Amino acid sequence: MDTPAPTPTPRVPIPPRGVDYRGKLVLAPMVRSGELPSRLTALHYGADLVWGPETVDYSMIGTTRRVNPRTGMIEWTRIPTNNKKVDSKVESIIFRIDPVREASRLIFQLGTSDPARAVEAARLVAPDCVGIDVNAGCPKPFSTSGGMGAALLKTPDKLVAILDALVRDVAPAAQIGISVKIRILETPAETEVLVRRLVATGITGLTLHCRTPDMRKTARAIRGQVRIVADVCREAGVAFLMNGDVETCSHATELAYEFGADGAMIATAAESNPSCFRSDAAGGLAPWEEVVGKYLTYAIEVENKLQNTKYLLAQMVPGKAGIHPKLHGCKSYRHIIELLGYTDLVDRAAAVDAVLNLPPLVAPPPQLAAAKPSGAKRKRGAAAGASHDKKKKTAPFAQAKSPHSRSASPAREAVEAAVGATAVVAPQPAAASSVAV
Ligand SMILES: Cc1cc2nc3c(=O)[nH]c(=O)nc-3n(C[C@H](O)[C@H](O)[C@H](O)COP(=O)(O)O)c2cc1C
Repeated sequence: MDTPAPTPTPRVPIPPRGVDYRGKLVLAPMVRSGELPSRLTALHYGADLVWGPETVDYSMIGTTRRVNPRTGMIEWTRIPTNNKKVDSKVESIIFRIDPVREASRLIFQLGTSDPARAVEAARLVAPDCVGIDVNAGCPKPFSTSGGMGAALLKTPDKLVAILDALVRDVAPAAQIGISVKIRILETPAETEVLVRRLVATGITGLTLHCRTPDMRKTARAIRGQVRIVADVCREAGVAFLMNGDVETCSHATELAYEFGADGAMIATAAESNPSCFRSDAAGGLAPWEEVVGKYLTYAIEVENKLQNTKYLLAQMVPGKAGIHPKLHGCKSYRHIIELLGYTDLVDRAAAVDAVLNLPPLVAPPPQLAAAKPSGAKRKRGAAAGASHDKKKKTAPFAQAKSPHSRSASPAREAVEAAVGATAVVAPQPAAASSVAV
């Protein structure tokens, strides 16, 4: 008797400009935490692909695509319609990408509850990314109240209609794939029924966040349904990424092997240390000082909104007590650079402050500086060196707290005195551009 030839595993074809999620470790979509500098940092440390933060169709429709002449970044901007506080003539940046470093590696994530709007919004960015992903997992009211995100898990007909429309009306022209990100449902049977419908739409990839919509993000991910979803995706030829409490590159490899996933996606661990994508062979997790230096370099380079940069730094710099309140109070990039001690970035920080109309640091008058006590009362900055040396790793915080820390450079002394005397701040003109986070 002839042995039957093994059935070839089917694969939904990946369009020429698209990307196969198989074998990939990727940065998750994260509102606020997934802006351009975070994505560039993740790529620097080895992420194979990066998802942009969920961008709602309504906010994308009506944007104008421009290349920023200073940075070379592509920005989609529009006059905000819903923020009365913002000068209505000032355009907001809704989405920003790096056409070079993100080339072939960026997936745009769409928040939508309507097929026609999804298509209209996706067409605006499809030529500049390698995939469009639909968010069907966000449980936050701002998403679900509009029928988007996890609300789509309860309206599978609508979700299928959205994916059908994108596969039919966007993918062929842009030559990229369409994917979807979902959460698990209450029972494996319910999840399986849903996934079978989704993989029949022609999507090329599916990500499963291993939490139900009701689970808080601090609850441990449930992996009991991963295998069944992996099997359904494999049967249909759709690449499958698992997500939820994946910590590092080696952890991702173990999990994918154990549960039969094609790859993995990391969110929270990457928010606090994007070097989690680096394999052990390439050095593994890098110390935060190095990672923060890299992140800041990108943030300055792409003119990231200061508020967003401060938020991310608060995730990456450990120790809530020491430096965080000072970080929170920083009014400019220059201020942050001086506070954290990345003095090699001072000139670039000053330049971006000028572009973003952020107030320059002003040294206090000499008599004020001289009058300040030299010891305990003086506020100290954290000298965050970009060193791999573990002993130095915690030093900046020790310095932030201790009046006996090493003496600072004259420049640092001046800045610290200025910070201590809160003698910062020139007039604050309206921001030239504001990034939606
Ligand atoms: C700050 C933050 C923002 C997020 N924004 C999005 C988003 O825009 N779209 C989305 O599908 N999921 C979003 N998520 C969920 C993550 O993509 C991911 O599914 C979830 O955090 C589980 O992965 P983790 O356990 O590695 O954190 C967000 C998560 C965080 C922490």
